[in-house]
Amino acid sequence: MTHSDFNAMTSATFRHNPWPVLAELREREGVVHLSPGLTDSWHVMRYDDVRQVLLTPELFSSNRALQGGGDFADANLGFLFNNLISATGEKHRRLRMIGNRVFMPKFIESFRPAVEEVVHERMEMALSCGEFDLVEDFAAQITVAMITAILGLPREDMGQIREWTAVLGDNSGASTWLPALDPAMVERGRRTGIELTEYFKAHIEERRRRPRENDLIAAFSEVEVEGERLTEAEVLSMAMLLLLAGNETTTNLIANFVRLLDAFPDQAARLRTSPHLADSAVEETIRMHNSIRNIDRFALEETVLSGVTIPKGGLVVVWLSAANRDPAQFDAPDSFRPERQPNRHLGFGQGPHMCLGAPLARMETRIAARAILERTGGIELTEPAELGTNANFDIVKRQMVRFLPGATPAVA
Ligand code: HEM
Repeated sequence: MTHSDFNAMTSATFRHNPWPVLAELREREGVVHLSPGLTDSWHVMRYDDVRQVLLTPELFSSNRALQGGGDFADANLGFLFNNLISATGEKHRRLRMIGNRVFMPKFIESFRPAVEEVVHERMEMALSCGEFDLVEDFAAQITVAMITAILGLPREDMGQIREWTAVLGDNSGASTWLPALDPAMVERGRRTGIELTEYFKAHIEERRRRPRENDLIAAFSEVEVEGERLTEAEVLSMAMLLLLAGNETTTNLIANFVRLLDAFPDQAARLRTSPHLADSAVEETIRMHNSIRNIDRFALEETVLSGVTIPKGGLVVVWLSAANRDPAQFDAPDSFRPERQPNRHLGFGQGPHMCLGAPLARMETRIAARAILERTGGIELTEPAELGTNANFDIVKRQMVRFLPGATPAVA
């Protein structure tokens, strides 16, 4: 049995408010078999089951090649999975060691002044211009500026990058939820793959001719682990993954932080008088609105979870969003509690594929959150939010707001 509103791409009810549907499925079934007419898939809802899947890669593989290719792969942005996110076993270990070597705390920290500068600049804009779009004019400006700085891309490419990212937000997961694929969606996915590949090939060539300091692409090309370097194709694929993974996700996190302040005014008032709680408020935002709501795995063996048999080869969709609001793990899971301790949310995943960019996402969002709490006296949402059409992500496309000035900052 499933729920008539359980479809991340065709149900307007689910898109608008997935929480009651996820809660009912988590409570009633734990593991939901989605069929017929759609791709056979098993949807894991409970915190303990989700952790178990993510912590046993020998049973639940990340290898997206197991899903096949063709139009489905094109619509689903298959080109994006030819890297560590889809690699398994020894290959993943090697790629991840290289990723960890590059994403060292010292490297991330070196971007702190640049994040502070762009957040400060956006706050000035926000406090002086009246009404503005929190997503495009504020959050995305911060995250895209940072990921372009880190990858050494020209700032004027931001508009194009946001367009490519939007395709990611619209297309991902299409092969699970749609009974028939929209040819326009397949074409958009294919074109984005080609355009991004060409863009990065040209960029990598340019970097090779004119190297720069603190350049991530150069770092990825040069790092050696156990005597091996990344191939050119691996550097290319890594760069595309970082660009797309590092922009939409954090943009939504910043936007959702502000939306939570509006939804929980008592907590917002407390946070304004205690901005040192900003860091844990960001963790609570990730728990309640983890930008990536679910991730895919493939069962390598027949397995039983919450009494449901998942067959060998089955597509397993792990719902981080349902786990993050499981009352068996979190008291009052639908309440925003910035001081929640412990807060063992699964918003960045868990296990060997746990988010490589989490320290960067945290740094950007914490700096933005603190600035918002310190410098605004209130925030008005002046129009209803426009949410994404693909509920596999917690996407806010547009949120018009007004920031009301508060205290002046201690440090400009
Ligand atoms: C709020 C922001 C973010 C969220 C919620 C998020 C979430 C996730 C999740 C859930 C995974 C696990 C995928 C899986 O297990 O299949 C993941 C992996 C990954 N993320 Fe993030 N992410 C965020 C920001 C970033 C940023 C800023 C970057 C880089 C600039 C990044 C790069 C990656 C990479 C490279 C992986 C693959 C790691 C691997 O497979 O070993 N992410 N992320």
